[in-house]
Amino acid sequence: MPMPDATVTSDRLVVHTAAPAETQAWGARLGARLRVGDFVALCGPLGAGKTCFVQGLGQGLGVESPITSPTFIIIRQHPGPVPLCHADAYRIASGEELEDAGLTECLRDSVVALEWADQVPASWPQDFYLIQIAFDNDGRRLELSARGEYPTQVVSELADAYSGN
Ligand SMILES: Nc1ncnc2c1ncn2[C@@H]1O[C@H](COP(=O)(O)OP(=O)(O)OP(=O)(O)O)[C@@H](O)[C@H]1O
Ligand SMILES: [Mg+2]
Repeated sequence: MPMPDATVTSDRLVVHTAAPAETQAWGARLGARLRVGDFVALCGPLGAGKTCFVQGLGQGLGVESPITSPTFIIIRQHPGPVPLCHADAYRIASGEELEDAGLTECLRDSVVALEWADQVPASWPQDFYLIQIAFDNDGRRLELSARGEYPTQVVSELADAYSGN
């Protein structure tokens, strides 16, 4: 039982999701708090649920165009109140290809969500959200963490809301 006035803050949140809709719901909770220039790095094996999480992000951002795997297009742009650039590093050879596809411009006017972000660590901006997804029995284990003042605060808020503080 948490103490009534205890403030337990954490800059890391680990949850189990039993179905795609639950993974999307976490994406939507994060997406609702994101701002232009935020970078979301998604890591996890094939079929883990990275695109599924980004679909939720899009809902949270208010993006209306359907979000599908961008695998053959390095960056797909989704207009909206807070626009989303959905990128995928799975098939690229280096971060230069992401740059050529417009990563820097995307970070100026959109939220950027990058699947397989661990393939191009040099392309990450200084501040970021990190979403690590793993298979976990029948569902998935999501770990949300962050670097930077605002992202860390957002993850703490999500973690506090989750633990009922
Ligand atoms: N708890 C869950 N969360 C997310 N996806 C789930 C879950 N349970 C089952 N799934 C299924 O797993 C698949 C996840 O696919 P998705 O395209 O999101 O993965 P991905 O990590 O983007 O894959 P890729 O590496 O090919 O880009 C979907 O078919 C989805 O229905
Ligand atoms: Mg995907």
